[in-house]
Amino acid sequence: MAYFSRFMPSVFIKTYGCQMNERDSEQVAQMLQAKGYDLTQDERRADVLLINTCSVRDQAEQKALGKMGLLSHLKRERPELVLGFMGCMAQSRGQELVDRLPDLDLVLGTQQFHRAADCINLLRSQFDGGRRPIIDVSESSGSESTIRDHVLRPRQATAFISIMQGCDMSCSYCIVPTTRGRERSRPIPEIVREAEELVASGVREVTLLGQIVNLYGRHEFPASNGRSPFVQLLHALDKIPGLERIRFTSPHPAGLRADLIGAYAELPKLCEHMHLPVQSGSNRILRAMRRSYTRELFLRKVDALRSACPGIALTTDIIVAFPGESEEDFLQTCSLAEEVRFDNAFVFRYSDRRDTPASSMTGQLPEDVKQTRNQRLLEIVNRIARETLASAVNTTQQILVEGPSKTNPNRLAGRTRNNRTAVFEGDASLRGSLVTLRITRSSDHTLYGEPVP
Ligand code: SAH
Ligand code: SF4
Ligand code: F3S
Repeated sequence: MAYFSRFMPSVFIKTYGCQMNERDSEQVAQMLQAKGYDLTQDERRADVLLINTCSVRDQAEQKALGKMGLLSHLKRERPELVLGFMGCMAQSRGQELVDRLPDLDLVLGTQQFHRAADCINLLRSQFDGGRRPIIDVSESSGSESTIRDHVLRPRQATAFISIMQGCDMSCSYCIVPTTRGRERSRPIPEIVREAEELVASGVREVTLLGQIVNLYGRHEFPASNGRSPFVQLLHALDKIPGLERIRFTSPHPAGLRADLIGAYAELPKLCEHMHLPVQSGSNRILRAMRRSYTRELFLRKVDALRSACPGIALTTDIIVAFPGESEEDFLQTCSLAEEVRFDNAFVFRYSDRRDTPASSMTGQLPEDVKQTRNQRLLEIVNRIARETLASAVNTTQQILVEGPSKTNPNRLAGRTRNNRTAVFEGDASLRGSLVTLRITRSSDHTLYGEPVP
């Protein structure tokens, strides 16, 4: 073994994009470890350099391309290195990437993550001659069930579970249906088994992942007792002994119905936070975006949710400067943000994605309008976020301790049930456990507290 480990090849993985990508990278890491690879954070030491990519906005693609440009310099000195792109940009650009970056060895699409280790082994074995790039962006039936293995750190308290892949919505600005393919959902028993295994390894909180996670299983599994497959899944997970918290992201407002709202009253483990992307507060723009709800319907759903689950934290995604967005439309979005008082929001400047319907719409807006609207909305969102966070001072909150605080390793950090980060002084042995804090103060993004006995 000692002899073998001297020759253990190592792999560096850099991940851009959403939680699904983080999860996919974890699966690839697990498979490579199982085949004898060592994971490294040091790109200069690695034999295999992989970038898991995102295509949702131009900026995300530019970052990954820039990073790969830098990594390819390493190949000048060590031509045996394997360089690979995986994930959404690999899927949407394929061959084009190899044409652009001739040092690239591997382009692996979103339905082929499970082939990563085999492809890499093949490429490494071919170094002595005749290595040709592998490009695989094909579909693979059953690939939704291949993202199931975890690499857990010691005393890791939280984990992601991908419960479905793909998206069948057709929001006019969005490239995800192209990069992730058709909706495909895993069966409930398979997901429950994965959660049970995580709990057996010490995990206390799971976050279910899907692009429209609350529409999970709509093509595969029937409703039962008025409950959608997603709510059935929540009920099944709530019964797992030792699991303390259940979260999910991101739901679509269209699938937010009475059964899911009712689940907050029925399921003690379901955490009081929902990330519910609204995208715009203008009905005209929502229609152009092909979001299937109106401002009024969204507000009614938020009211229903808040009546069923008082104090639930709501966060959202908003796109500013969508093609044709007038000042009046934009003000409608600002007023929606004021009315709902989101705990927080990601504000995105509209980014043109090729081959999407929005890309050829009239009324594309210049960069300075995108910039100003982004800034104006952020000021509203940030002010409300600060005020909401401050209102938690003097309350008691249950925290799941995740580990040392990022800014001060002598303190511990975790999240409240409604997903706010809380920091306190305590012993490192508390990692992975539930602690009750009295909140003493707040900053822009963080709560500070003291444990109550
Ligand atoms: N499936 C999720 C969102 C996935 S993408 C949902 O529908 O809620 C994450 C966010 O990126 C979206 O909510 C949207 O706000 C933003 N986004 C998607 N395409 C974009 C584009 N072309 N330009 C700017 N932001 C975009
Ligand atoms: Fe994109 Fe819309 Fe699907 Fe979300 S629901 S991934 S925004 S197409
Ligand atoms: Fe990006 Fe793909 Fe996620 S495009 S947002 S990494 S699904």
